[in-house]
Amino acid sequence: MRTDLSGRTALVTGAGRGNGREIAQMLAENGASVVVNDLDEGPAEETVDEIMSAGGDAVAVSADISDEAAVQAMVETGTDALGTIDLLVNNAGIGRGDRFKNKPDDTFWNLQLGVHLWGSIYCTKHVLDGMLDQGYGKVVNVTSIHTKNGVGMSPQYDVTKYSLVGLTKTLALELGRDGIRVNAVAPGWTETRMTADFDAETREQILNLNPLDRFASSEEIAEAVHFLCAPASDYVNGHELRVDGGQQPIDSWKHRYDD
Ligand SMILES: NC(=O)c1ccc[n+]([C@@H]2O[C@H](COP(=O)([O-])OP(=O)(O)OC[C@H]3O[C@@H](n4cnc5c(N)ncnc54)[C@H](O)[C@@H]3O)[C@@H](O)[C@H]2O)c1
Repeated sequence: MRTDLSGRTALVTGAGRGNGREIAQMLAENGASVVVNDLDEGPAEETVDEIMSAGGDAVAVSADISDEAAVQAMVETGTDALGTIDLLVNNAGIGRGDRFKNKPDDTFWNLQLGVHLWGSIYCTKHVLDGMLDQGYGKVVNVTSIHTKNGVGMSPQYDVTKYSLVGLTKTLALELGRDGIRVNAVAPGWTETRMTADFDAETREQILNLNPLDRFASSEEIAEAVHFLCAPASDYVNGHELRVDGGQQPIDSWKHRYDD
């Protein structure tokens, strides 16, 4: 399988820990130079240190991806350091939200729209000229198990992750003729900080609906992203690749609405 990324430059958002760090490391192991983004410099630098000590090439650029000016500056810095961005992984994510019937104010909505939707739009917008000029690029948007049927506990997360599916589909149609493929990876429940504080009951409910009876590892999510960044997937476009162990929709969350 054609998995080599030598000569390519990748930008991975939210790569200071969790899935993003694993994705950045895997792309670097396979030959890509990686612009490692996160909100804060420290975690991004740690990822870069790990990549460099393994013999790879990377640079840390902190930026809040929901801030367009910060994204523009990040892309300029990353491009100056490592060259035109060929591969963009819109991975940064946040899990906070509140039920619709609690009528939360706009804070959670704006937060999640800002990171998941606007962040992915801004990053794609600012790497696009480089991709168009060279007639080549790959964008991978990280969606979620929440785009299987919704989960219902955080409407802000469900809605904004579904919006990324729409972004994936429409950009795949528009940009395919320019040599740019746009796909998504939908992780199932994964062992990261985002799920670290799930209580035993919640984990059991999830695993009851998972044929593989376990959460994913970040490495398994990174493998799928790597595939969609690699030449092996050159004829894959507009696809949302589910990496969720066959996880079924969370109908057992129903009882949680009764409390
Ligand atoms: N862990 C899971 O079970 C799971 C399941 C489905 C999808 N996902 C998705 O996978 C992706 C990675 O999640 P994770 O589990 O590694 O979470 P995580 O919380 O461990 O990591 C998320 C990273 O994104 C960064 N980030 C948040 N807001 C940012 C911003 N505005 N600008 C730049 N960086 C920002 C955080 O600082 C953090 O380093 C997310 O998109 C998440 O929605 C995770």
